[in-house]
Amino acid sequence: MQRSLILLKPDCVQRRLIGEVISRFEAKGLQIVGLKMLQVTPELSRQHYAEHVEKPFYKSLEDFITAAPVVAIALEGLEAIGVVREMLGATNGLKAAPGTLRGDYSSSRQMNLVHASDSEESAKRELDLYFKPEELCGYSLLL
Ligand code: CMP
Repeated sequence: MQRSLILLKPDCVQRRLIGEVISRFEAKGLQIVGLKMLQVTPELSRQHYAEHVEKPFYKSLEDFITAAPVVAIALEGLEAIGVVREMLGATNGLKAAPGTLRGDYSSSRQMNLVHASDSEESAKRELDLYFKPEELCGYSLLL
């Protein structure tokens, strides 16, 4: 089992696509083990996107990610990190394949709807940024 940190970004929230995106994850069989809406602060943005802070597009990325609420989701499932990345498609919505979330709903490199952790190491770091341990739930029902 793996856990991944998913962010429904401000464009997703403002376009009222929260339900659509969550439905796709649920249909795939991934379990939501944590869920919250929050406004990303500039400080949280710098922590989350630490590897991009020095890049030319960072200022614009921070302005975007702090502009409206996001929905943070902890998703659990077999190979969840890779499965979710496949479901999202390429970073640039213009390049993302049809049938992927970005391919179907985004035409932008920055406003690409959803963020998802790209490795086990970043999943742990990002889950810790958005959720306290007691905010994550467990399931024991086998359905
Ligand atoms: P995400 O998967 O959240 O990881 C980093 C984010 O930076 C990415 O999605 C895009 O929203 C954004 N991004 C990546 N490359 C660029 C770029 N060249 N110009 C603007 N935004 C970018």
